[in-house]
Amino acid sequence: MALLLPFLLIVVVAASILTHPRRSRRPVGLPLGSLGWPVVGETLEFLSAAYSSRPESFMDLRRALYGKVFKSHLFGSPTIVSTDAEVSRFVLQSDARAFVPSYPKSLLELLGKSSILRLNGALHRRVHGLVGAFFKSPLLKSQITADMQSHVERAMATWPEGRPVLIQDQAKHLVFPVLVKGLIGLEPGEKVGFLKKQFREFIAGLMSFPLKLPYTRLYKSLQAKRSMVRFVREIIDEKRRNPSPRPSDVVDVLVNDTSGQITDDVISDNIIDLMIPAEDSVPVLLTLAVKYLTDNPPALHQVEEENMALKERKAEVGLCLEWKDYMSLSFTQDVITETLRLGNIIGGIMRKAARDVEVKGHLIPEGWCVFTYFRSVHLDDSVYDDSLRFNPWRWKGKETNAYSFTPFGGGQRLCPGLDLARLEASIFLHHLVTTFTWVADDDDEVVNFPTVRMKKGLPVRLMRKTNACCLTPIANVQA
Ligand code: HEM
Repeated sequence: MALLLPFLLIVVVAASILTHPRRSRRPVGLPLGSLGWPVVGETLEFLSAAYSSRPESFMDLRRALYGKVFKSHLFGSPTIVSTDAEVSRFVLQSDARAFVPSYPKSLLELLGKSSILRLNGALHRRVHGLVGAFFKSPLLKSQITADMQSHVERAMATWPEGRPVLIQDQAKHLVFPVLVKGLIGLEPGEKVGFLKKQFREFIAGLMSFPLKLPYTRLYKSLQAKRSMVRFVREIIDEKRRNPSPRPSDVVDVLVNDTSGQITDDVISDNIIDLMIPAEDSVPVLLTLAVKYLTDNPPALHQVEEENMALKERKAEVGLCLEWKDYMSLSFTQDVITETLRLGNIIGGIMRKAARDVEVKGHLIPEGWCVFTYFRSVHLDDSVYDDSLRFNPWRWKGKETNAYSFTPFGGGQRLCPGLDLARLEASIFLHHLVTTFTWVADDDDEVVNFPTVRMKKGLPVRLMRKTNACCLTPIANVQA
Protein backbone atom coordinates (compact mmCIF):
# COMPACT_ATOMS: atom_id res chain seq x y z
CA MET A 1 0.00 0.00 0.00
CA ALA A 2 2.94 2.29 0.65
CA LEU A 3 3.67 2.21 -3.06
CA LEU A 4 0.46 3.87 -4.06
CA LEU A 5 0.98 7.46 -3.08
CA PRO A 6 4.35 7.95 -4.82
CA PHE A 7 2.91 6.52 -7.96
CA LEU A 8 0.66 9.53 -8.30
CA LEU A 9 3.59 11.59 -9.45
CA ILE A 10 4.04 9.50 -12.57
CA VAL A 11 0.65 10.51 -13.91
CA VAL A 12 0.71 14.07 -12.70
CA VAL A 13 1.32 15.83 -15.96
CA ALA A 14 -1.08 13.76 -18.05
CA ALA A 15 -3.77 13.83 -15.43
CA SER A 16 -3.46 17.50 -14.69
CA ILE A 17 -3.74 18.47 -18.35
CA LEU A 18 -6.94 16.49 -18.62
CA THR A 19 -8.52 17.30 -15.30
CA HIS A 20 -7.50 20.73 -14.12
CA PRO A 21 -10.67 22.26 -12.73
CA ARG A 22 -9.29 25.62 -11.65
CA ARG A 23 -11.77 27.76 -9.79
CA SER A 24 -12.05 31.44 -10.44
CA ARG A 25 -13.92 32.12 -7.20
CA ARG A 26 -12.79 31.16 -3.68
CA PRO A 27 -15.74 29.39 -2.04
CA VAL A 28 -16.47 30.35 1.54
CA GLY A 29 -14.49 28.30 4.04
CA LEU A 30 -11.88 27.00 1.63
CA PRO A 31 -8.59 26.94 3.57
CA LEU A 32 -5.84 29.39 2.73
CA GLY A 33 -3.09 28.28 0.38
CA SER A 34 -2.00 28.49 -3.23
CA LEU A 35 -3.01 26.45 -6.26
CA GLY A 36 0.46 27.15 -7.67
CA TRP A 37 1.28 27.13 -11.34
CA PRO A 38 -1.19 26.39 -14.11
CA VAL A 39 -1.42 22.66 -14.84
CA VAL A 40 1.27 21.40 -12.47
CA GLY A 41 0.09 23.35 -9.45
CA GLU A 42 2.57 22.88 -6.59
CA THR A 43 3.57 19.36 -7.56
CA LEU A 44 7.15 20.24 -8.46
CA GLU A 45 7.75 21.92 -5.10
CA PHE A 46 6.20 18.93 -3.39
CA LEU A 47 8.43 16.52 -5.31
CA SER A 48 11.56 18.51 -4.69
CA ALA A 49 10.89 18.28 -0.93
CA ALA A 50 9.84 14.63 -1.21
CA TYR A 51 13.19 13.65 -2.72
CA SER A 52 15.10 15.50 -0.01
CA SER A 53 15.86 14.17 3.45
CA ARG A 54 13.05 16.34 4.88
CA PRO A 55 9.93 15.68 2.80
CA GLU A 56 7.81 17.48 5.37
CA SER A 57 9.56 20.78 4.52
CA PHE A 58 6.92 21.38 1.80
CA MET A 59 4.27 21.14 4.49
CA ASP A 60 6.25 23.07 7.13
CA LEU A 61 6.56 26.13 4.91
CA ARG A 62 2.84 26.20 4.12
CA ARG A 63 1.83 25.43 7.68
CA ALA A 64 3.76 28.51 8.78
CA LEU A 65 2.03 30.63 6.12
CA TYR A 66 -1.51 29.27 6.11
CA GLY A 67 -2.03 26.99 9.11
CA LYS A 68 -2.20 23.23 9.56
CA VAL A 69 -4.82 22.78 6.84
CA PHE A 70 -4.20 24.45 3.50
CA LYS A 71 -5.17 24.18 -0.11
CA SER A 72 -2.79 23.23 -2.87
CA HIS A 73 -2.82 21.61 -6.28
CA LEU A 74 -1.00 18.29 -6.36
CA PHE A 75 -0.74 15.44 -8.84
CA GLY A 76 -3.33 16.97 -11.15
CA SER A 77 -5.99 17.69 -8.55
CA PRO A 78 -6.96 20.61 -6.38
CA THR A 79 -6.14 19.26 -2.94
CA ILE A 80 -6.75 20.11 0.67
CA VAL A 81 -3.66 19.10 2.64
CA SER A 82 -4.23 18.22 6.27
CA THR A 83 -1.36 18.18 8.72
CA ASP A 84 -3.89 18.54 11.54
CA ALA A 85 -4.44 15.37 13.55
CA GLU A 86 -8.13 16.09 14.19
CA VAL A 87 -8.97 16.91 10.58
CA SER A 88 -7.07 13.85 9.33
CA ARG A 89 -8.89 11.65 11.82
CA PHE A 90 -12.23 13.04 10.69
CA VAL A 91 -11.35 12.17 7.08
CA LEU A 92 -10.20 8.64 8.03
CA GLN A 93 -13.34 8.03 10.08
CA SER A 94 -15.71 9.17 7.31
CA ASP A 95 -17.33 6.63 5.04
CA ALA A 96 -17.74 6.56 1.28
CA ARG A 97 -20.63 9.03 1.39
CA ALA A 98 -18.03 11.70 2.23
CA PHE A 99 -14.66 10.43 0.95
CA VAL A 100 -13.57 7.67 -1.40
CA PRO A 101 -10.04 6.42 -2.10
CA SER A 102 -8.45 8.17 -5.03
CA TYR A 103 -5.86 6.49 -7.26
CA PRO A 104 -4.63 7.00 -10.83
CA LYS A 105 -6.24 5.06 -13.67
CA SER A 106 -3.41 2.66 -14.46
CA LEU A 107 -2.96 1.78 -10.84
CA LEU A 108 -6.64 1.01 -10.55
CA GLU A 109 -6.27 -1.24 -13.57
CA LEU A 110 -3.39 -3.13 -11.98
CA LEU A 111 -5.22 -3.57 -8.71
CA GLY A 112 -8.40 -4.83 -10.35
CA LYS A 113 -11.94 -3.66 -9.72
CA SER A 114 -12.51 -5.96 -6.74
CA SER A 115 -9.44 -4.76 -4.85
CA ILE A 116 -10.13 -3.82 -1.24
CA LEU A 117 -8.43 -0.52 -2.01
CA ARG A 118 -11.14 0.29 -4.56
CA LEU A 119 -14.16 -1.22 -2.87
CA ASN A 120 -16.63 0.87 -0.91
CA GLY A 121 -19.78 0.16 1.07
CA ALA A 122 -21.06 -3.28 2.07
CA LEU A 123 -18.59 -5.35 0.05
CA HIS A 124 -15.65 -3.36 1.42
CA ARG A 125 -16.88 -3.88 4.98
CA ARG A 126 -17.33 -7.60 4.33
CA VAL A 127 -13.85 -8.16 2.88
CA HIS A 128 -12.18 -5.93 5.47
CA GLY A 129 -14.06 -7.68 8.27
CA LEU A 130 -13.22 -11.19 7.11
CA VAL A 131 -9.56 -10.50 6.43
CA GLY A 132 -9.13 -8.38 9.57
CA ALA A 133 -10.72 -10.97 11.86
CA PHE A 134 -8.54 -13.73 10.42
CA PHE A 135 -5.37 -11.64 10.78
CA LYS A 136 -6.25 -11.07 14.43
CA SER A 137 -6.96 -14.74 15.12
CA PRO A 138 -4.64 -16.56 17.53
CA LEU A 139 -4.58 -19.44 15.05
CA LEU A 140 -2.98 -17.38 12.30
CA LYS A 141 -0.65 -15.63 14.73
CA SER A 142 0.59 -19.00 15.99
CA GLN A 143 1.14 -20.21 12.46
CA ILE A 144 2.94 -17.02 11.40
CA THR A 145 5.09 -17.27 14.53
CA ALA A 146 6.10 -20.87 13.86
CA ASP A 147 6.81 -20.18 10.17
CA MET A 148 8.67 -16.94 10.75
CA GLN A 149 10.77 -18.51 13.54
CA SER A 150 11.85 -21.42 11.41
CA HIS A 151 12.56 -19.20 8.39
CA VAL A 152 14.54 -16.73 10.43
CA GLU A 153 16.56 -19.43 12.19
CA ARG A 154 17.39 -21.21 8.93
CA ALA A 155 18.28 -17.99 7.13
CA MET A 156 20.37 -16.58 9.98
CA ALA A 157 22.34 -19.82 10.20
CA THR A 158 23.64 -19.07 6.70
CA TRP A 159 24.40 -15.37 7.18
CA PRO A 160 28.14 -14.87 6.84
CA GLU A 161 30.26 -13.28 9.52
CA GLY A 162 32.58 -10.47 8.62
CA ARG A 163 31.12 -9.92 5.15
CA PRO A 164 28.40 -7.34 4.46
CA VAL A 165 24.82 -8.55 4.73
CA LEU A 166 22.06 -6.35 3.30
CA ILE A 167 19.36 -6.28 5.96
CA GLN A 168 16.75 -4.88 3.57
CA ASP A 169 17.12 -7.75 1.08
CA GLN A 170 17.19 -10.34 3.84
CA ALA A 171 14.04 -8.89 5.38
CA LYS A 172 12.19 -9.17 2.05
CA HIS A 173 13.48 -12.68 1.61
CA LEU A 174 12.10 -13.68 5.03
CA VAL A 175 8.75 -11.92 5.09
CA PHE A 176 7.37 -12.80 1.65
CA PRO A 177 7.06 -16.61 1.99
CA VAL A 178 5.68 -16.36 5.52
CA LEU A 179 2.88 -14.01 4.53
CA VAL A 180 2.19 -15.89 1.29
CA LYS A 181 1.62 -19.04 3.31
CA GLY A 182 -0.86 -17.14 5.49
CA LEU A 183 -2.63 -15.91 2.35
CA ILE A 184 -2.83 -19.00 0.16
CA GLY A 185 -1.41 -21.83 2.25
CA LEU A 186 1.55 -22.47 -0.03
CA GLU A 187 4.71 -23.90 1.55
CA PRO A 188 8.02 -22.34 0.47
CA GLY A 189 9.44 -23.94 -2.65
CA GLU A 190 9.40 -23.65 -6.42
CA LYS A 191 5.84 -22.35 -6.62
CA VAL A 192 6.52 -19.56 -4.14
CA GLY A 193 9.63 -18.73 -6.19
CA PHE A 194 7.48 -18.48 -9.35
CA LEU A 195 4.95 -16.32 -7.54
CA LYS A 196 7.63 -14.02 -6.20
CA LYS A 197 9.06 -13.51 -9.68
CA GLN A 198 5.65 -12.66 -11.12
CA PHE A 199 4.87 -10.48 -8.13
CA ARG A 200 8.03 -8.42 -8.61
CA GLU A 201 7.05 -7.83 -12.27
CA PHE A 202 3.59 -6.80 -11.10
CA ILE A 203 4.75 -4.46 -8.36
CA ALA A 204 7.24 -2.70 -10.66
CA GLY A 205 4.26 -1.49 -12.70
CA LEU A 206 2.69 0.28 -9.75
CA MET A 207 5.15 3.07 -10.46
CA SER A 208 5.06 3.06 -14.24
CA PHE A 209 3.69 5.46 -16.82
CA PRO A 210 0.08 4.58 -17.63
CA LEU A 211 0.67 3.38 -21.19
CA LYS A 212 -0.60 -0.11 -21.93
CA LEU A 213 1.23 -1.02 -25.16
CA PRO A 214 3.23 -4.25 -25.59
CA TYR A 215 6.66 -4.09 -23.92
CA THR A 216 5.71 -1.12 -21.73
CA ARG A 217 6.15 -1.51 -17.98
CA LEU A 218 2.42 -1.42 -17.35
CA TYR A 219 1.78 -4.06 -19.99
CA LYS A 220 4.38 -6.41 -18.49
CA SER A 221 2.93 -5.88 -15.03
CA LEU A 222 -0.57 -6.65 -16.24
CA GLN A 223 0.75 -9.86 -17.86
CA ALA A 224 2.37 -10.83 -14.57
CA LYS A 225 -0.86 -10.08 -12.72
CA ARG A 226 -2.78 -12.30 -15.16
CA SER A 227 -0.43 -15.19 -14.52
CA MET A 228 -0.74 -14.69 -10.74
CA VAL A 229 -4.52 -14.60 -11.03
CA ARG A 230 -4.44 -17.94 -12.95
CA PHE A 231 -2.24 -19.38 -10.24
CA VAL A 232 -4.48 -18.17 -7.40
CA ARG A 233 -7.60 -19.34 -9.28
CA GLU A 234 -6.28 -22.90 -9.29
CA ILE A 235 -5.88 -22.70 -5.53
CA ILE A 236 -9.40 -21.27 -5.16
CA ASP A 237 -10.86 -24.05 -7.36
CA GLU A 238 -9.13 -26.68 -5.28
CA LYS A 239 -10.36 -25.13 -2.04
CA ARG A 240 -13.90 -24.79 -3.37
CA ARG A 241 -13.84 -28.52 -4.20
CA ASN A 242 -12.45 -29.44 -0.76
CA PRO A 243 -13.40 -26.66 1.66
CA SER A 244 -11.52 -26.67 4.94
CA PRO A 245 -13.81 -26.46 8.00
CA ARG A 246 -10.98 -24.82 9.97
CA PRO A 247 -9.54 -22.03 7.81
CA SER A 248 -5.77 -21.85 7.85
CA ASP A 249 -5.26 -19.16 5.23
CA VAL A 250 -7.07 -16.14 3.77
CA VAL A 251 -8.33 -18.06 0.72
CA ASP A 252 -10.01 -20.57 3.07
CA VAL A 253 -11.67 -17.71 4.94
CA LEU A 254 -12.99 -16.07 1.78
CA VAL A 255 -14.05 -19.34 0.13
CA ASN A 256 -15.98 -20.36 3.26
CA ASP A 257 -17.94 -17.09 3.38
CA THR A 258 -21.63 -17.72 2.82
CA SER A 259 -22.80 -14.16 2.13
CA GLY A 260 -22.72 -14.76 -1.63
CA GLN A 261 -20.71 -11.50 -2.07
CA ILE A 262 -17.25 -13.05 -2.31
CA THR A 263 -16.67 -14.05 -5.92
CA ASP A 264 -13.49 -15.59 -7.32
CA ASP A 265 -12.55 -12.15 -8.73
CA VAL A 266 -12.83 -10.65 -5.25
CA ILE A 267 -10.60 -13.38 -3.83
CA SER A 268 -7.90 -13.30 -6.49
CA ASP A 269 -7.64 -9.48 -6.69
CA ASN A 270 -7.37 -9.19 -2.94
CA ILE A 271 -4.92 -12.01 -2.43
CA ILE A 272 -2.54 -10.28 -4.84
CA ASP A 273 -3.03 -6.89 -3.12
CA LEU A 274 -2.28 -8.48 0.21
CA MET A 275 1.13 -9.52 -1.06
CA ILE A 276 2.16 -5.85 -1.45
CA PRO A 277 2.98 -5.28 2.25
CA ALA A 278 4.95 -8.55 2.27
CA GLU A 279 7.35 -7.14 -0.30
CA ASP A 280 7.34 -3.54 0.83
CA SER A 281 6.01 -2.13 4.11
CA VAL A 282 6.86 -4.98 6.48
CA PRO A 283 10.46 -5.53 5.27
CA VAL A 284 10.96 -1.75 5.46
CA LEU A 285 9.71 -1.76 9.06
CA LEU A 286 12.23 -4.50 9.95
CA THR A 287 15.03 -2.67 8.17
CA LEU A 288 14.34 0.72 9.73
CA ALA A 289 14.17 -0.82 13.20
CA VAL A 290 17.66 -2.26 12.67
CA LYS A 291 18.90 1.07 11.31
CA TYR A 292 17.59 3.06 14.29
CA LEU A 293 18.92 0.51 16.78
CA THR A 294 22.33 0.50 15.10
CA ASP A 295 22.44 4.28 15.51
CA ASN A 296 21.27 4.11 19.13
CA PRO A 297 23.41 1.73 21.24
CA PRO A 298 21.49 2.30 24.49
CA ALA A 299 18.23 1.26 22.84
CA LEU A 300 19.93 -1.72 21.19
CA HIS A 301 21.36 -2.77 24.51
CA GLN A 302 17.96 -2.65 26.19
CA VAL A 303 16.36 -4.67 23.37
CA GLU A 304 19.12 -7.27 23.70
CA GLU A 305 18.67 -7.46 27.42
CA GLU A 306 14.91 -7.87 27.18
CA ASN A 307 15.11 -10.52 24.46
CA MET A 308 17.94 -12.46 26.10
CA ALA A 309 15.96 -12.57 29.33
CA LEU A 310 12.93 -13.97 27.52
CA LYS A 311 15.04 -16.53 25.67
CA GLU A 312 16.66 -17.73 28.88
CA ARG A 313 13.34 -17.89 30.74
CA LYS A 314 11.85 -20.05 28.01
CA ALA A 315 14.96 -22.23 27.72
CA GLU A 316 14.90 -22.92 31.48
CA VAL A 317 11.44 -24.45 31.22
CA GLY A 318 12.13 -26.03 27.83
CA LEU A 319 9.38 -24.12 26.00
CA CYS A 320 9.30 -22.53 22.54
CA LEU A 321 8.39 -18.90 22.14
CA GLU A 322 4.80 -18.17 21.20
CA TRP A 323 3.31 -15.08 19.60
CA LYS A 324 2.15 -13.74 22.96
CA ASP A 325 5.73 -13.94 24.26
CA TYR A 326 6.98 -11.76 21.44
CA MET A 327 4.15 -9.27 21.85
CA SER A 328 4.80 -9.09 25.61
CA LEU A 329 8.27 -7.62 25.09
CA SER A 330 7.31 -4.12 26.09
CA PHE A 331 10.53 -2.31 25.20
CA THR A 332 10.82 -4.13 21.85
CA GLN A 333 7.23 -3.10 21.11
CA ASP A 334 8.12 0.49 22.00
CA VAL A 335 11.04 0.28 19.57
CA ILE A 336 8.65 -0.86 16.84
CA THR A 337 6.18 1.92 17.70
CA GLU A 338 8.95 4.51 17.58
CA THR A 339 10.20 3.09 14.27
CA LEU A 340 6.70 3.45 12.83
CA ARG A 341 6.47 7.04 14.09
CA LEU A 342 9.87 8.19 12.89
CA GLY A 343 10.04 6.04 9.75
CA ASN A 344 6.66 7.07 8.32
CA ILE A 345 6.57 4.10 5.97
CA ILE A 346 3.30 5.47 4.64
CA GLY A 347 3.62 9.24 4.90
CA GLY A 348 -0.03 9.96 4.22
CA ILE A 349 -3.04 8.94 2.21
CA MET A 350 -5.27 10.46 -0.45
CA ARG A 351 -9.04 10.55 -0.58
CA LYS A 352 -11.48 12.32 -2.88
CA ALA A 353 -14.50 14.20 -1.51
CA ALA A 354 -17.75 12.63 -2.73
CA ARG A 355 -19.65 15.77 -1.65
CA ASP A 356 -18.85 19.12 -0.05
CA VAL A 357 -17.57 18.38 3.44
CA GLU A 358 -16.93 20.87 6.23
CA VAL A 359 -14.51 20.05 8.99
CA LYS A 360 -13.14 22.30 11.74
CA GLY A 361 -14.29 25.36 9.79
CA HIS A 362 -12.66 24.25 6.53
CA LEU A 363 -14.53 23.40 3.38
CA ILE A 364 -13.39 20.40 1.33
CA PRO A 365 -15.29 20.83 -1.93
CA GLU A 366 -16.79 17.88 -3.79
CA GLY A 367 -14.33 16.43 -6.32
CA TRP A 368 -11.26 17.80 -4.52
CA CYS A 369 -8.66 15.48 -3.09
CA VAL A 370 -7.70 15.55 0.53
CA PHE A 371 -4.21 14.51 1.49
CA THR A 372 -3.93 13.49 5.16
CA TYR A 373 -0.22 13.84 5.80
CA PHE A 374 0.64 11.73 8.85
CA ARG A 375 4.33 12.48 8.65
CA SER A 376 3.84 16.12 9.70
CA VAL A 377 1.93 15.01 12.80
CA HIS A 378 4.44 12.27 13.65
CA LEU A 379 7.28 14.78 13.38
CA ASP A 380 5.60 17.70 15.12
CA ASP A 381 7.63 18.95 18.10
CA SER A 382 4.48 20.18 19.82
CA VAL A 383 3.12 16.62 19.76
CA TYR A 384 6.36 14.62 20.21
CA ASP A 385 9.19 16.16 22.18
CA ASP A 386 12.36 16.38 20.09
CA SER A 387 10.41 14.63 17.36
CA LEU A 388 13.31 13.86 15.02
CA ARG A 389 15.08 11.85 17.71
CA PHE A 390 14.65 8.07 17.91
CA ASN A 391 13.48 7.72 21.48
CA PRO A 392 11.58 4.49 22.23
CA TRP A 393 11.49 5.47 25.92
CA ARG A 394 8.89 8.13 25.07
CA TRP A 395 6.34 5.30 24.80
CA LYS A 396 7.08 3.74 28.18
CA GLY A 397 3.78 2.84 29.85
CA LYS A 398 1.84 4.89 27.30
CA GLU A 399 -0.87 3.89 24.87
CA THR A 400 -0.58 5.19 21.33
CA ASN A 401 -3.00 8.00 20.54
CA ALA A 402 -5.45 7.37 17.69
CA TYR A 403 -5.20 11.02 16.58
CA SER A 404 -1.50 11.69 16.65
CA PHE A 405 -0.21 8.18 15.81
CA THR A 406 -1.58 6.84 12.55
CA PRO A 407 1.09 4.76 10.75
CA PHE A 408 -1.64 2.23 9.95
CA GLY A 409 -4.30 4.77 8.97
CA GLY A 410 -7.61 4.64 10.81
CA GLY A 411 -11.38 4.31 10.59
CA GLN A 412 -12.96 1.80 8.23
CA ARG A 413 -9.75 1.36 6.30
CA LEU A 414 -7.47 0.88 9.29
CA CYS A 415 -4.75 -1.53 8.20
CA PRO A 416 -5.97 -5.05 8.99
CA GLY A 417 -2.36 -6.31 8.99
CA LEU A 418 -1.07 -4.11 11.82
CA ASP A 419 -0.73 -6.90 14.40
CA LEU A 420 1.01 -9.16 11.91
CA ALA A 421 3.46 -6.43 10.95
CA ARG A 422 4.37 -5.90 14.61
CA LEU A 423 4.60 -9.63 15.25
CA GLU A 424 6.94 -10.24 12.32
CA ALA A 425 9.11 -7.32 13.36
CA SER A 426 9.30 -8.65 16.96
CA ILE A 427 10.29 -12.15 15.84
CA PHE A 428 12.92 -10.81 13.49
CA LEU A 429 14.42 -8.49 16.11
CA HIS A 430 14.40 -11.22 18.75
CA HIS A 431 16.44 -13.60 16.62
CA LEU A 432 18.73 -10.90 15.32
CA VAL A 433 19.72 -9.49 18.72
CA THR A 434 20.02 -12.88 20.42
CA THR A 435 22.14 -14.36 17.62
CA PHE A 436 24.38 -11.52 16.48
CA THR A 437 26.10 -8.32 17.29
CA TRP A 438 26.79 -6.10 14.31
CA VAL A 439 28.26 -2.88 13.02
CA ALA A 440 27.15 -0.77 10.08
CA ASP A 441 29.30 -1.62 7.06
CA ASP A 442 28.83 1.67 5.26
CA ASP A 443 27.09 5.00 5.76
CA ASP A 444 23.58 4.56 4.56
CA GLU A 445 20.58 6.85 4.56
CA VAL A 446 16.83 6.64 4.53
CA VAL A 447 15.26 7.54 1.20
CA ASN A 448 11.67 8.72 1.53
CA PHE A 449 10.52 8.85 -2.05
CA PRO A 450 9.04 7.26 -4.11
CA THR A 451 8.94 4.70 -1.30
CA VAL A 452 10.66 4.65 2.06
CA ARG A 453 13.76 2.45 2.02
CA MET A 454 17.48 2.41 2.81
CA LYS A 455 19.52 3.77 -0.10
CA LYS A 456 22.15 1.00 0.05
CA GLY A 457 19.95 -1.67 1.61
CA LEU A 458 21.53 -1.26 5.08
CA PRO A 459 24.75 -3.28 4.82
CA VAL A 460 26.00 -4.56 8.19
CA ARG A 461 28.85 -6.82 9.33
CA LEU A 462 27.66 -9.47 11.73
CA MET A 463 29.45 -11.26 14.54
CA ARG A 464 27.81 -14.43 15.81
CA LYS A 465 27.38 -14.47 19.60
CA THR A 466 29.39 -17.26 21.14
CA ASN A 467 27.86 -16.96 24.56
CA ALA A 468 24.20 -16.14 24.50
CA CYS A 469 24.41 -14.75 28.03
CA CYS A 470 26.95 -12.05 27.13
CA LEU A 471 25.29 -8.81 26.24
CA THR A 472 27.03 -6.06 24.34
CA PRO A 473 28.93 -4.08 26.99
CA ILE A 474 27.81 -0.54 27.06
CA ALA A 475 28.76 2.39 29.21
CA ASN A 476 25.85 4.72 28.85
CA VAL A 477 22.53 2.98 29.18
CA GLN A 478 19.52 5.27 29.21
CA ALA A 479 17.12 4.69 32.08
C1 HEM B 1 4.62 -1.81 8.47
C2 HEM B 1 3.66 -2.42 7.85
C3 HEM B 1 2.39 -1.78 7.36
C4 HEM B 1 2.04 -0.45 7.29
C5 HEM B 1 2.88 0.77 7.69
C6 HEM B 1 0.70 -0.40 6.75
C7 HEM B 1 -0.02 0.78 6.58
C8 HEM B 1 -1.31 0.82 6.09
C9 HEM B 1 -2.11 2.02 5.98
C10 HEM B 1 -1.66 3.43 6.37
C11 HEM B 1 -3.31 1.67 5.47
C12 HEM B 1 -4.51 2.59 5.24
C13 HEM B 1 -4.69 2.92 3.77
C14 HEM B 1 -5.91 3.80 3.53
O1 HEM B 1 -6.56 4.25 4.47
O2 HEM B 1 -6.19 4.05 2.35
C15 HEM B 1 -3.27 0.25 5.22
C16 HEM B 1 -4.28 -0.47 4.67
C17 HEM B 1 -4.22 -1.81 4.41
N1 HEM B 1 -3.22 -2.68 4.80
FE1 HEM B 1 -1.53 -2.21 5.73
N2 HEM B 1 0.28 -1.67 6.49
C18 HEM B 1 1.27 -2.55 6.87
C19 HEM B 1 1.23 -3.92 6.82
C20 HEM B 1 0.20 -4.66 6.31
C21 HEM B 1 0.13 -6.10 6.30
C22 HEM B 1 1.16 -7.06 6.89
C23 HEM B 1 -1.02 -6.44 5.66
C24 HEM B 1 -1.57 -7.80 5.36
C25 HEM B 1 -0.91 -8.78 4.89
C26 HEM B 1 -1.69 -5.20 5.29
C27 HEM B 1 -2.88 -5.12 4.61
C28 HEM B 1 -3.58 -3.95 4.40
C29 HEM B 1 -4.86 -3.89 3.70
C30 HEM B 1 -5.63 -5.06 3.09
C31 HEM B 1 -5.25 -2.55 3.70
C32 HEM B 1 -6.51 -1.95 3.08
C33 HEM B 1 -7.60 -1.81 4.09
C34 HEM B 1 -8.86 -1.21 3.51
O3 HEM B 1 -8.80 -0.41 2.57
O4 HEM B 1 -9.91 -1.56 4.03
N3 HEM B 1 -0.92 -4.15 5.70
N4 HEM B 1 -2.04 -0.25 5.63
